[in-house]
Amino acid sequence: MTADLEAIVTDVAAMMRGAQERGSVASYIPELAKVDASQFGLAVATADGRVVTGGDADTGFSIQSISKVFALTLALGKVGDQLWDRVGREPSGTAFNSIVQLEHEHGIPRNPFINAGAIVVTDINLGGHQPRVAIGEILRFLHYLAGDDDIAINEAVAASETASGFRNMALANYMRAFDNVRHDVDLVLGAYFHQCAIEMSCRQLALAGRYLMLDGRHPGGGRVVSPRRARRINALMLTCGHYDASGDFAFRVGIPGKSGVGGGIMAVVPGRASIAVWSPGLNASGNSHLGTLALEELARRTGWAGFSPP
Ligand code: DON
Repeated sequence: MTADLEAIVTDVAAMMRGAQERGSVASYIPELAKVDASQFGLAVATADGRVVTGGDADTGFSIQSISKVFALTLALGKVGDQLWDRVGREPSGTAFNSIVQLEHEHGIPRNPFINAGAIVVTDINLGGHQPRVAIGEILRFLHYLAGDDDIAINEAVAASETASGFRNMALANYMRAFDNVRHDVDLVLGAYFHQCAIEMSCRQLALAGRYLMLDGRHPGGGRVVSPRRARRINALMLTCGHYDASGDFAFRVGIPGKSGVGGGIMAVVPGRASIAVWSPGLNASGNSHLGTLALEELARRTGWAGFSPP
């Protein structure tokens, strides 16, 4: 499979490089609108310890909502299943930044991957500290997971979202009214915007996702989370990782995945591979257009799609 995997990754990267339709870069965060849409990267970290890459796999990009997976892992480590008193576990069927459900559902967001849910998760991670403490913690967590201390925040992206994140401000204030955001809204959003502005390459992201491929184990030894927690995070990525397009992603790609508006997607094939793909152009649901196509092709050609037996 490994020799084949190299050929498949090279082929998929070549296909995506030549694609005509590339989607549109996110424009609601002005700094992301400047990114060159012609880029494409792919990295696959395998359970047997290899990393196979194609295209711009070492170029850094804004991980945005993919950070929500790592933030959720940290928050579950702090408060355990009590987290689910404040955040649901159902697909939302609405856009990532939607506010409509919050009123009907009394300020409890549908899941931890829509913006409202991720803001509550950040509120938990703040734990009475200043944003820089929570931000330092998530960065150190990523350094440990990826084995790479160069992962850092793009301050221009964080500043750009801080200046333009009016919907997130509305969501956070709304949930504060229900006491589901408990810190000062500016502190929570400061931590949230910086977490989203973390920059990683596909290689770094595929390496960071390995604990979800390995049933919660760190590939260097030791445990990041229990097997049950790793499996549940994967379940949430499958059902909620692509917002109102999660059903379509599960149907087409058939593996758990989490997207970000920077154009990245992290995907996990339990026991086999941790995958990161990046192409900045998005589809109408705010998920990478070519990233989704590339994962569909990769999963089909490797046989990893849709709960295939080993
Ligand atoms: O809060 C936001 O709107 C962005 N920082 C993250 C949104 C995002 O990545 C949605 N994913 N596709």
